[in-house]
Order: sequence, then C-alpha cells, then structure tokens
Amino acid sequence: NYYAILMAGGVGSRFWPVSTEAFPKQFHDMLGTGDTLIQKTFKRLSKLIPKENIFILTNERYNDLVFEQLPEVTKRQVVLEPAMRNTAPCILYAALKIQKENADAVMIVAPSDHWIEDENAFAQNVQKAFDFCSKHDALMTLGIQPTFPNTGYGYIEYDKTSEEEIKPVSQFREKPDYDTAKSFIAQGNFLWNAGIFMWSVKSVVEAFRNNQAELYQLFETGINDYNTDREHDFISQNYAKAENISVDYAIMESSKNVYVLPATFDWNDLGTWGSLYDKLDKDEADNAVVNAKTLTQDASGNMIRSKANKIVVVDGLKDYIIVDKEEVLLIFPKTKEQDIKKVLQKVKDKF
Ligand code: GDD
Ligand code: MG
Repeated sequence: NYYAILMAGGVGSRFWPVSTEAFPKQFHDMLGTGDTLIQKTFKRLSKLIPKENIFILTNERYNDLVFEQLPEVTKRQVVLEPAMRNTAPCILYAALKIQKENADAVMIVAPSDHWIEDENAFAQNVQKAFDFCSKHDALMTLGIQPTFPNTGYGYIEYDKTSEEEIKPVSQFREKPDYDTAKSFIAQGNFLWNAGIFMWSVKSVVEAFRNNQAELYQLFETGINDYNTDREHDFISQNYAKAENISVDYAIMESSKNVYVLPATFDWNDLGTWGSLYDKLDKDEADNAVVNAKTLTQDASGNMIRSKANKIVVVDGLKDYIIVDKEEVLLIFPKTKEQDIKKVLQKVKDKF
C-alpha cells in the first residue's frame, strides 16, 4: 500500500545560471555524482516503495525531461500540471488519483531536490512514520534540528512532555519573520520542517476537505475522470483555477492532527549555491569544484562549476560563486547568494 509523490515542479531560480525555467535544478547533476537530483531521489525512495507506485508531479513542460531521466516510469506515474500553482493543488490532485487506485494507500510526499547523506537512516525514519500513519489519522512531518533563524523554512513546535519518538505538534508555522524564528529557536522545542510529509491518502484528502473547501470541490468535480481518457481535458480546463498555495499554508498550519518525527539523518534542501558548497568536498583552500579542472592561487572558499573538464583559473577571489555555462558566466559573492533571483530578473529585463 506504499506510495510516493515526488515533487519536481519548482524552478530553482537561485541556482541560476545552471538551473533555468527550461531546465530546472532537479534535472541537473548538481553534486557532480553522475546522477541528477531527481534520479537520486527516485533511487532513495525505491528502496522503500515499489517503483511503480512512485508518482512524479511536475509541470507539463518537463514531461520529456522526466521520461529521459527516469526511463523506468510509465505514463500513469507522471502527473502533469498545466499551470504552476505551488504544492497544495498538485498534492491534492495526485492524492485523489492515488485514492481512486488504492483507498488504503499510505504515502510520502518528497521534494526532488534535497540532499540526504544517510539513506539508511532516512529509510528507517520513513518506515516508522509509515507504521504510525497506517494506524492513526495523522499528518506527519520529519523535523530537523534548527541551527539559525532561517526565515525560509516552516517551524514545528512539538509537545515537550511527550516521551514518544513521534511527537504531537502543537503549532506548525510556515516561514515566520526573523524575530519570531529567533524566539522559536530560543524556546528549544521547535524543529524545521524538512518539507517531507507522510500520511494515509484518507487523512490528507480529509485535511483538504476540512481546510481548503474550495480547492477540494474544484478537484472533486473531476474525480470520476481521473485515470480515464477524460482526465486530461478536465485538468486542462480546471487546474489553473486552483489557488496558488503551498501545502504548508493550505493544510499543515490549520490541522490538529500533525505529528513530527525528529529526523536522524543529515539534511540540506540545496536551495542556494552556498548550501551546495557546504555539502561538497573542498580542496586545500576550501574551494568546492564541480566539473571543472581548476587551478587556484590565492583563492579560497569559492564555489566553482563549469562545463565538464573545462580548465578554470582563479586568482585572488575569496568566497565567490563562479559558474560557467554556454551562454552565461556568473561571478557573484557568496554572501549575496539570495540576490541571484533578483539579478536573474534584471538579466531577463535587459536582454
Ligand atoms: N510539482 C510541483 N508543482 N512541484 C512544486 C511546485 C509546483 O507548482 N512548486 C514547488 N514545487 C516543488 C519544488 O521543486 C520543491 O521540490 C518542493 O516542491 C518545495 O517547494 P519550495 O518552493 O522549494 O518550498 P520552500 O522551500 O519554500 O518551503 C518548503 O520546504 C522547506 C524545506 O526545504 C516548506 O515545506 C517549508 O516548510 C520547508 O521548511
Ligand atoms: Mg525549497
């Protein structure tokens, strides 16, 4: 009864110029290991879940990329979105499809672009969560010990008094402001949401029915079309009507049956060049290099990536992102990595 929903519809704009709208980061080998991020994620999940029960959710335009990179998946497993509406609509859509196929399904929803080193610990954690969700009406998350007041994550307040491994959640707060995040961390019983969810299909559909009535009704109208030839027509006519909202705001913040399992594996959501830099091996001067043959002097702390085997010489730069692609060369201070999104916009406006 185990299923997975793999979310692969984001654009990853802070990883420009490697990640682009036409070819986003999940379809790139960001770590230089030979596998793209989505291939790595698919392999990780297929240790726990039958391959044929792993569904890929992505925008229509990435259809070909999915089949190229995951030749083992069939059409049934690729859920295509005609519009970008964030994670809530696509999760509900896929959950309703899966429910039609198997009403007792228990599933994991996983982003396609995370870094997880200890795959065995990951599998053990998810198995525990699956066991719990099979028995309880629960929306489960994996929690990460926070290290600084990151305002880009969801925060999970768990019940301090609970002696259980899986703890009831008293509050789920998506992307709080800096001061709130700081006070959460000071309180000690808050975890970051890893963005990996587990639940029974019954519980998640119920959560949408209770908290997102409009979204639920929109998709419910088409329920008899799912997995038939009429599905495509229904979705192309209706999907774009869905509200643009993430699953965190849509159901996690307002549900009472949220539980967290503190993760026992190292996790990184690979959101920026700096987070990738942190996870890569470094040379003697702490430069991280992907693909390039580099010669560095008086250069340290740099994140360097080029086309395969290109020779790159760097002298006199410290803590820079240096990314060379056919049509773009980016040289950008690591400390300003969050601004890459804005710079990309300027580039689009100008050229
Ligand atoms: N299929 C599909 N369609 N996938 C999408 C869409 C969409 O419209 N939008 C985003 N995704 C995918 C992204 O590619 C990513 O893998 C995942 O869904 C999460 O989206 P993000 O946009 O990266 O979310 P976030 O980083 O702002 O926040 C989420 O993740 C954090 C941890 O990384 C939240 O769940 C936070 O609470 C969490 O802390
Ligand atoms: Mg993210």
